Amino acid sequence: MLILAVESSCDETSVAVVEMNDNPRVRRILSNRIASQIPLHAAFGGVVPEIASRAHAEAISSLAYEALEESGVSLSEIGAIGVTAYPGLIGALLVGVNFAKGLAMANGIPLVPVNHIHGHIAANYFSDPAPEPPFLALVVSGGHTSLSEVLTYTDIRVIGRTRDDAAGEAFDKVARILGIPYPGGAELDRISYLGDPGAVRFPLAAMTDGSLDFSFSGLKTAVMNYENHCSQTGAEWNRNDVAAGFTRAAVDSLIKQMDAALLQTGVSKLVIAGGVAANTHLRKGLTEYAASRKNLQVYFPPQALCGDNAAMIGAQAYYAFLNGIRGDAGLNAMATSRHDENL
Ligand code: KG4
Ligand code: ZN
Repeated sequence: MLILAVESSCDETSVAVVEMNDNPRVRRILSNRIASQIPLHAAFGGVVPEIASRAHAEAISSLAYEALEESGVSLSEIGAIGVTAYPGLIGALLVGVNFAKGLAMANGIPLVPVNHIHGHIAANYFSDPAPEPPFLALVVSGGHTSLSEVLTYTDIRVIGRTRDDAAGEAFDKVARILGIPYPGGAELDRISYLGDPGAVRFPLAAMTDGSLDFSFSGLKTAVMNYENHCSQTGAEWNRNDVAAGFTRAAVDSLIKQMDAALLQTGVSKLVIAGGVAANTHLRKGLTEYAASRKNLQVYFPPQALCGDNAAMIGAQAYYAFLNGIRGDAGLNAMATSRHDENL
């Protein structure tokens, strides 16, 4: 089945054409056009919602033309149009939702609203081998950090979430303290190899109530305090050591909560998703952790599909379509997730 998918929840506009099938070997990304707005927001140190909405509106039509042209598919061959409807920046989401709605209604194509977080998880369905539910999913992105039990492709239940900053947000804020421009997660990943992770030890957030939640703001504040202390006392500090120490603490706290979640749920399959799933230290740490546990399989999305893109929305739209989920002319965007999805 051919699906056209649209993503505009934050600072990347993306339109993709994917071929989906129950057999992972027959799944293909025919086109996945992405227009990144990062240069527009970098000057402000973060995403400016109004600028994001305008940039989505400017980019979306031409991306759709390009995606159809690159894939060699005509609209008449498209079986469904998937679109990120929630959660995200409301003005940004509305651009994608209204565009997809117009395209679907004008051409008589079924419209399928998709949860952005579920889309991140679905990026893994383009991996080979691809994970099949049930599994445990850790979504670590710039705006979200959550642990979910994926019971079926569309029955996804959150069992842990961040109580403050998202993991990617913490990476970006620490990068900023170290003088790296927004979004600094990838550069922080790189310079962490140049430092000694044992030189500066930062604390892990401990959930004393036994919950599967996360917290990253204390870790971020510890980095800030360390930097302030050094500059006030004139003590020398090494940027790469701080990056390495922070990365180790962030990765260790993610693995610690996942270990607790695996124990609690008895699940033996782990799927990682979101922008921070590109982090090479997290990939290495989780691969080592999985090797130390019998029968635990761990899946990562292809590097190119970790960040926001429409192909992942197309993958999830396929399963939502099969499950009868449809949007109509009244489809609206939502900044938060639906209550009935327990997110
Ligand atoms: O999933 P995503 O594209 O957007 C959201 O849905 O939020 O994630 C973007 C986040 C940013 O915070 C970025 O710094 C982070 O993912 N990121 C990384 C790496 N690559 C991207 N964080 C750590 N290590 C990386 N290699
Ligand atoms: Zn995202």
